[in-house]
Amino acid sequence: MTQLLYLAAAVAFIVGLRRLGAPSSARSGNRIAAFGMLAAIVITLVDQDILNWWVVAAGLAVGAVLGLWAALRVQMTAMPQMVAIFNGLGGVASALVAATEVAEMSLAQAPPETSVSVLISIVIGSITFTGSFVAFGKLQGVLPGRPLLFPGQMVVNGLLVLGLVGLAIWAGVTGEDVGYWLVAGLALLLGVMTVIPIGGADMPVVISLLNSFSGLAAAAAGFVIESSPLIIGGALVGAAGLILTVQMTEAMNRSLGNVLFAGFGTEAGGGSAATMSEQPVKRATPEDAAISLGYADSVMIVPGYGLAVAQAQHAVRKLADALEERGATVHYAIHPVAGRMPGHMNVLLAEADVPYEQLLDLEQADPQFPQTDVVLILGANDVVNPSARDDQASPIYGMPILNVDRAGTVIVVKRSLSPGFAGIDNPLFYDERTLMFFADAKEALEQTVNALKSV
Ligand code: TAP
Repeated sequence: MTQLLYLAAAVAFIVGLRRLGAPSSARSGNRIAAFGMLAAIVITLVDQDILNWWVVAAGLAVGAVLGLWAALRVQMTAMPQMVAIFNGLGGVASALVAATEVAEMSLAQAPPETSVSVLISIVIGSITFTGSFVAFGKLQGVLPGRPLLFPGQMVVNGLLVLGLVGLAIWAGVTGEDVGYWLVAGLALLLGVMTVIPIGGADMPVVISLLNSFSGLAAAAAGFVIESSPLIIGGALVGAAGLILTVQMTEAMNRSLGNVLFAGFGTEAGGGSAATMSEQPVKRATPEDAAISLGYADSVMIVPGYGLAVAQAQHAVRKLADALEERGATVHYAIHPVAGRMPGHMNVLLAEADVPYEQLLDLEQADPQFPQTDVVLILGANDVVNPSARDDQASPIYGMPILNVDRAGTVIVVKRSLSPGFAGIDNPLFYDERTLMFFADAKEALEQTVNALKSV
């Protein structure tokens, strides 16, 4: 019976994960997976000899209250940091489960598969723990966002890895407790050392990779305590996190190696090496934007990181409603890496109840630009940069972009000519058909909605 119920919980994980693939089913997917997890916990507790129910109940209550409080309070722009903390705690939980085995029984007599599972769980869980907290620190501005590089860094990290592997083999063969604790110490250090040379702006990719690691650590812990839901859940997280990591790097046209080892980006949230063009730009006022938009039949809105910073999701919905009332068709073109985390824009727009059918992904939106009257870009930069298509010397050359410059008129809302995440200039701003509306995205939208009333 227990195994059957575990199987049902595993099915809930898989169905939940599957439903996370589309914005319209994501909420229910999340609930189904969470219910599966709660069911797996309850089944395990009922099935085992629990020494103290009060401790378990208190743990569940404290965890639920803290989780709810954090989820309700966190700003959308701070979501990657929260995920980083969750991953880190997941990693350390798995490492602690494995460490309990070391503390409670001598592993010298344990079968090799137990020692190997314990070691994998401790190593990956510890790396995930410290790595995730460094990622959190970089994104939160507690640690410097730029890559922290020093001479011989690769050699030091290489020696750390070799030392870790050597110690792990020694601990596994001899079963000496001290070996396991040293492995844990080195793995904690390695987590820090691997993440500090990576730029703050690449942290979402790192967090996704560490998410995958936390799953692997949990799966290994599942083997240690012979828990099939932990193995299945961990394996699903491991695989899903890895797929997401690969998708993110592909959408940026970079390899995982480049993200982890190239020290890309010198500042969190944007590089510093930009040399802005001296060319003139056409400036637009709220009235100019209102006239262009007010007479358009088709409008495509391109949200980017700036929309999240400005918290302009409700304001954009208001403008879209006003345009639809005037008879225009409105769509949103969502680039896979717009913003700073996967699905960032979808979640923001869902908050303002933007209808899902108006959201187009890159492949759906791209063919529509030549027939679109006005493209309104809200705090997006790199994802609409034509140099990714035209300039082989550009650092983002080859990254798929939204070809907004094929539309009739392009209105770019941002506060200045500052670069985006990649730290490079954007020829779109100087294009003949582009109007630059320099303002905070939320203020610009509110002013345009007002101006639209007299158009
Ligand atoms: P970015 O290229 O980073 O550009 C964002 C723009 O928003 C900036 O140029 C900034 O210009 C503007 N902005 C900031 N605050 C604003 C505000 N309050 N109002 C209006 N505009 C504001 O953003 P994007 O086009 O969304 O591209 C995302 C970048 O992040 C890509 O390079 C991508 O590779 C990278 N990245 C994404 C992910 C994921 S998964 N989404 C993960 C890792 C890296 P001003 O300062 O002039 O206003």
